[in-house]
Amino acid sequence: MGVAIVLPGPADFTAWRNAARGLVAAGIAPEQAEWRVTGDNPGLFAAGPPPNATPAGAFRVPRAFLELAEIAIRHRDGERFALLYRALWRVTQGEPALMQVATDPDIVRLTAMAKAVRRDAHKMHAFVRFRQVETEAGIRHVAWFEPEHHIEEAEAGFFVRRFAALRWSIVTPRRSVHWDGQEIAFGPGGSRAEVPPDDAVEPLWRAYYAAIFNPARLKPGAMRAEMPRKYWRNMPETAEIPRLMAEAPRRVAEMVARGGAAPNPRPQRMRPPAQPEAPSGVGEGMDLLDTHADPEAALAALLRELAARPDLPDFARRATQPVFGEGPIGARLMFVGEQPGDEEDIQGRPFVGPAGRLFDRALAEAGVPRDEAYVTNAVKHFKFTPTGKRRLHQSPDAGDIAHYRPFLLREVGLVRPRLLVALGATALRALTGKALRVMKTRGTVIDGPEGLPLFATVHPSFLLRVPDQDAQAREYARFVEDLRTAAARA
Ligand code: URA
Repeated sequence: MGVAIVLPGPADFTAWRNAARGLVAAGIAPEQAEWRVTGDNPGLFAAGPPPNATPAGAFRVPRAFLELAEIAIRHRDGERFALLYRALWRVTQGEPALMQVATDPDIVRLTAMAKAVRRDAHKMHAFVRFRQVETEAGIRHVAWFEPEHHIEEAEAGFFVRRFAALRWSIVTPRRSVHWDGQEIAFGPGGSRAEVPPDDAVEPLWRAYYAAIFNPARLKPGAMRAEMPRKYWRNMPETAEIPRLMAEAPRRVAEMVARGGAAPNPRPQRMRPPAQPEAPSGVGEGMDLLDTHADPEAALAALLRELAARPDLPDFARRATQPVFGEGPIGARLMFVGEQPGDEEDIQGRPFVGPAGRLFDRALAEAGVPRDEAYVTNAVKHFKFTPTGKRRLHQSPDAGDIAHYRPFLLREVGLVRPRLLVALGATALRALTGKALRVMKTRGTVIDGPEGLPLFATVHPSFLLRVPDQDAQAREYARFVEDLRTAAARA
């Protein structure tokens, strides 16, 4: 006579483990056990309480099995519980080394299931896009996502860590996950219609995607594998894909006619649009691509992460785009400025306006090729006051600096220069977390973040503001001398 076990949820590992332990202890073979989830149709056997679990330790289960089981149980395959139980049974009934038999059909299948679940989790981390919704209680960020497997509960923690300071909901066909800034709650699934389709950030995402799209590298199969079509409609940037694919042959032909120059040869230099990070939690929860084994990929993932953050400070919303760092990973010198100015905001590159031109001149005089240095800013958006036709630079305050700081620190950790150079007070504050005075720190090397040495000097725009010409020349020469000292030190 068999027994039916009814689990409270489709991926409830604790309930499965307790029941499975009881079944093993009661000597119930896999073919005598039927696994169901509350709400499933009744099966062959009558549902009953699972046999009492044996006291922990009465039989030993390899940790590798439990780790595999905890992931594989989230797979949507209806046989997962039974398959897991069969593997457990075999491990406890004379095949303790089963996990090491990589070719065993049960292990092959469970391993493939765990892999699929992990991949699904990765897609969820990468492709969830929040939209802002005004509610009576204030702004809530809502996202629609269709996972392949039962991963909502398991992945909720990832989003809590990453968006701790926001109020958000992720709605899937099976489940909804809600975070109010303090507590996580799970509810029933919903429909795509419950999530608004559009918000202001979308045109920027589209422009970004169109800009990084290189028709000569068009591989529709690979694109679909990495970003399956079903996610496309949740992601504003992908609205461009059909048009871009249709245009690709013509653009490639034009490219060839021009002598083979690819329109966008280095996609990683492009910058995604702005969705800066929540006030806290930016440093946590690297996504699965975010690995130090490949800092370029990690930096790109970091940029995507910043761009995917749903809370934008007001000034970031008014900016044209975020301006990210530029230069080689592992550069000997990493220069950190304050924030993009008017021209940087339009071009999407750091230090290309008046201060940037002065900086370039000083770098050249100091013998530092700019393209060998990594140049970035503490704050990634242009903060300005609109006055008639002009946009007047507004200095970032301590809150703005703190807001972007975790992101900057991770950028530092990825570039890992020999020497960090703070250009001015904002950068010095962002890098040290302290309100140090530039004029006191200038020219010395102090401890910076990530255990890296930090050198401080003035911001090039300070030189532009010196009123007297002689004093300006003196200050400029001193700045060049600082750059020389930094280069020698690096
Ligand atoms: N000032 C900065 O600090 N950074 C820029 O990119 C431009 C001006």
